[in-house]
Amino acid sequence: MRKKITVVGAGNVGATVAQRAAERNYADIVLVDIVEGLPQGKALDMLEAGPVIGYDSLITGTNSYEETANSSVVVITSGLARKPGMSRDDLVRANQTIISSVTEQVAKYSPDAIIVVVTNPLDAMAQLAFSVSKFPKNHVVGMAGVLDTARFRSFLAAELNVSVRDVQAYVIGGHGDTMIPLTKMTTIAGVPVTQLISEDRLAQIVQRTRDGGAEIVNYLKTGSAYYAPSASVMEMVDAIMLDQKRILPCSAYLQGEYGIHDLFVGVPVKLGASGIEQVVEVELSDGDRAALQRSANAVKEIVEVMGI
Ligand code: NAI
Ligand code: 2OP
Repeated sequence: MRKKITVVGAGNVGATVAQRAAERNYADIVLVDIVEGLPQGKALDMLEAGPVIGYDSLITGTNSYEETANSSVVVITSGLARKPGMSRDDLVRANQTIISSVTEQVAKYSPDAIIVVVTNPLDAMAQLAFSVSKFPKNHVVGMAGVLDTARFRSFLAAELNVSVRDVQAYVIGGHGDTMIPLTKMTTIAGVPVTQLISEDRLAQIVQRTRDGGAEIVNYLKTGSAYYAPSASVMEMVDAIMLDQKRILPCSAYLQGEYGIHDLFVGVPVKLGASGIEQVVEVELSDGDRAALQRSANAVKEIVEVMGI
């Protein structure tokens, strides 16, 4: 029997994840949304692309969870984006309600799944999914660092006129203003980036990375990024489904690693068939370590709004 990937939320990110996953051709896909007809219509449309693209993935759209049973991976993208007049705390509470109910259903039907959380505020929603699902900590992971790192790598490659494949970097911390592009660990084909780009210019690229989500929102006006986010989700899903043991920056539940306790924050982890197989503790400079602690404090403030 083919393995199953469920994507909850058939909006911009969810539908694009489902499409990319179908094209991988290694699993069947179930797309879930609360809006009647939306997941059914998008799933059928994707199914009908199979003969042209050349995949056999079965894609099912549904408003319930029976069809999601026994999924290997569940990607949660359901939720609201911040609207004018809505405070961050309003958004947290609205998405708390959505992620709680979705996670309950996901855990009921796929008790052995690995949950990849995408909904914002990312680290807090990962913490919520962990708390509601009662899954082991290695089975809940948040997507943000891969996206933030992809943005950083794109900007560096453009700056230096080199292939993105030759830019190695990590962005850690919470998914927000306090994220930390690790400039001292960033290399271009093994050469430290600090030898290739001036301090001032590098600081500008770091800031553009931090503002990467807002830059896209400013162009789109309604809605946020989804091509790079969905590609980033799939890098994680591939690592899990294909047991690739990739070292990727992901939001993980820390219990003392990096001096952070009982909180989801973005750090490098080893991702494989068992989910988070290891939190990779790299040696950080004093400045980066302090910045990571500040970022964790910012995540904690949001978690406290939820009262979990
Ligand atoms: P979207 O608005 O296009 O899609 C959200 C979908 O969730 C909608 O189709 C909506 O009907 C559905 N939904 C709402 N409540 C639901 C429920 N209870 N059950 C099932 N489905 C439900 O939004 P988009 O652009 O797809 O973004 C989704 C989320 O992902 C947002 O919170 C966004 O901020 C976040 N995001 C996070 C990123 C990251 O790096 N972690 C990157 C990009 C987006
Ligand atoms: C992003 O960074 C909205 O979190 C989303 O694009």
